[in-house]
Amino acid sequence: MFSAGLDGLFPARAREDIQQALRVRIGYPKPAVLDIGTGSGAWCIDMAKAFPDADFVGMDLVPVKAGSVPPSNCHFEVGNADTDLAKMYTAESFDLIHARSMMQGIKDFSSFFQSLWRMLRPGGVLLTVDGAYTSWDEERRQIEYKEEGQPGFSWFRKMCYHMFEVLKARNPSADLTYCVTDCVRGVGDDAWKKVDVFDLYFPVGMFDSPTLSPSERLGGKLYTENLSRIPDSVRPMLLSSSLTPEEVDRLAAEFRAELKEPKVKQFFQFICTWTVKK
Ligand SMILES: C[S@@+](CC[C@H](N)C(=O)[O-])C[C@H]1O[C@@H](n2cnc3c(N)ncnc32)[C@H](O)[C@@H]1O
Repeated sequence: MFSAGLDGLFPARAREDIQQALRVRIGYPKPAVLDIGTGSGAWCIDMAKAFPDADFVGMDLVPVKAGSVPPSNCHFEVGNADTDLAKMYTAESFDLIHARSMMQGIKDFSSFFQSLWRMLRPGGVLLTVDGAYTSWDEERRQIEYKEEGQPGFSWFRKMCYHMFEVLKARNPSADLTYCVTDCVRGVGDDAWKKVDVFDLYFPVGMFDSPTLSPSERLGGKLYTENLSRIPDSVRPMLLSSSLTPEEVDRLAAEFRAELKEPKVKQFFQFICTWTVKK
């Protein structure tokens, strides 16, 4: 989904910074990459194939069940990025750090971003991709939350609302996943040579819009396909929200129907932030 939406493994605008960070230099250590919260390891494996002269490490809270065979320059480790980074990795040991859709697992944002900065070599790139539990209209304005019965109500937003309710109870810093770019800047005025942002939008449901790029259109189809499976995967989470089991079942059914025939044209936004260390 992300590869389709970005038409690559990272935003095109970050290509030069990433290629520069991962170039092989005589007399310097081999380029090294860390993928935090690697999940299935898909990004790490694809990147390791694209950059065979660099070493890749994917780390996650749970042992990785890789979706495909990793090449020899890619391996996986278990660890908690919220508490273990300082124990696991030495200062200035990576040229690229990637963290995608994993910020909900971070409680101490300040120490997390300080650690990432410390682990990067000078000229190293930090690339994060994350989205907020909200939606955007065709003019890219944030859509206000509506209750059932109000004009503009959507089951997608209701699901996001209750998922965030549970997340916030588990992780009081969950709001900060909305402002990763500010957290990155917060590392220090003199920390980065550059901070840049690219917003990726996917439609919530099966509709087309002239505002979508061809790659967002393709990524959006895969996003909508993913969304149709979300009610099952987040059911345990929704059952610990303020909803009753009957309300969770109704939400799941109504949300699936809404994806096929959306009444509101809304988009989910993924914010890609990348920085180059001074
Ligand atoms: C939504 S998945 C994203 C996986 C992958 N980054 C991707 O984009 O395909 C989130 C992953 O982050 C991991 N995660 C969450 N909090 C973490 C933490 N504190 N330390 C390490 N991994 C974490 C989860 O175990 C999960 O595999």
